[in-house]
Amino acid sequence: MRTTVELAHASRLVNHGPTVLVTSAQGARRNVMAAAWSMPVEFTPPRVAVVIDKSTFTRELVLASGAFALNVPCRALADLTYTVGSTSGREAADAGSDKFARYRITTFDGPALGLPLVEGCVGWLECRLIAEPHAQQAYDTFFGEVVSAQADARVFADGRWSFDPARSELHTLHHLGGGVFAWPERSVRATLLPTTA
Ligand SMILES: Cc1cc2nc3c(=O)[nH]c(=O)nc-3n(C[C@H](O)[C@H](O)[C@H](O)COP(=O)(O)O)c2cc1C
Repeated sequence: MRTTVELAHASRLVNHGPTVLVTSAQGARRNVMAAAWSMPVEFTPPRVAVVIDKSTFTRELVLASGAFALNVPCRALADLTYTVGSTSGREAADAGSDKFARYRITTFDGPALGLPLVEGCVGWLECRLIAEPHAQQAYDTFFGEVVSAQADARVFADGRWSFDPARSELHTLHHLGGGVFAWPERSVRATLLPTTA
């Protein structure tokens, strides 16, 4: 069900503020963490921002490799999302393992950069890190240029999400805090208000 998304529409994958999984790899070291704070910041070329705390193993791999991916998990992956956001891959790496193996998370290779992308997600963006040392140091904010975008065609088609209550296990996750998530259940098409004067 995976389909390529035009880069012109890549921003729509994270436009509505879903929690994402940040994946990274450097040599044999690979990792995945949850991030509630990510957003599109430019259309052309498509660029995104994500906050990656100084304490994380992810940050070490992103800085070493110059790349990261944003995976958009769905409701079916709520426990996985919470788990990889509550444990560090550093300890697993020291033991010669990683979170993918520890929690049986299956991946496929990103088409542009070969980054590990998480199976079962509904959107995937591979990004080249844009070096902004000041923002990284002062605000933990990392910028990336999107170089590949894919989505699950069952919930993202014609450049936008399409959420059907009958398939809510495929809807994106939005973190309310403390491991509690919400998901979008319905949508409404807005129309322009009539002018009166
Ligand atoms: C739902 C959720 C959202 C999170 N959002 C962020 C975030 O936006 N930025 C961040 O630095 N950490 C965030 N975290 C915490 C990291 O995922 C957590 O520190 C993780 O253990 C880091 O893993 P690592 O050391 O393997 O990279 C979040 C955690 C959860 C559960």
